[in-house]
Amino acid sequence: MKIFLDTANLDELKKAASWGIVDGVTTNPSLIAKEGVAIEEQIARICDIIDGDISAEVVATEAKAMVEEGTKLAKIHKNIVVKLPLTRDGIQACSALSKEGIRTNVTLCFSPAQALLAAKAGAYIVSPFVGRLDDIAQLGMELIESICTIYGNYGYQTQVLAASLRSPLHVAQAAEIGADIGTLPFKTLDMMFNHPLTDKGLEIFLKDYAKAFAEKK
Ligand code: E4P
Repeated sequence: MKIFLDTANLDELKKAASWGIVDGVTTNPSLIAKEGVAIEEQIARICDIIDGDISAEVVATEAKAMVEEGTKLAKIHKNIVVKLPLTRDGIQACSALSKEGIRTNVTLCFSPAQALLAAKAGAYIVSPFVGRLDDIAQLGMELIESICTIYGNYGYQTQVLAASLRSPLHVAQAAEIGADIGTLPFKTLDMMFNHPLTDKGLEIFLKDYAKAFAEKK
């Protein structure tokens, strides 16, 4: 499973990039707003840090304007994937941009039927939101499972990106189901390293080693 970072924060991206395990980045208007820098500028900076798919989301809500905005965003860098909401206009824009060879990520997907529409429109990626479904007491991970089954049934090429992943457990479950990509905040990625037995084991190894060689001196 490819790991994307769900952030527009450059320090987080640099830190994660140094670990050599980040395959791409997703952003959304809220994440861009948090950084306080215009989208074109911030996305260009992100492209300088991570060499992989970088999702940049439109804020237009009408198909024609979405296509115009998406076309501009796509010109920022060859790695840009234009993110569009799963609305009627978003799907219309997705079809149009896909026909032009511009890669799209259809976001805010909350049902298998919506995911089918994204695939039909030629989306490069679909983003079903796991955590936000869990928040309303629905099993978000079941959505990932359904979409993977549907896409598998018909051989759709659209990649399933498990979004709104909030814990290492979410990440592992998405990988077990076979999602193509998981996008997670820096905090979740950082948590994935942790295991008390790793810390304890390393402490013992180092202590034993130091003791053995200290005794020979
Ligand atoms: C996906 O592309 C979204 O930006 C993101 O995963 C949403 O996550 P949240 O529900 O934690 O805000």
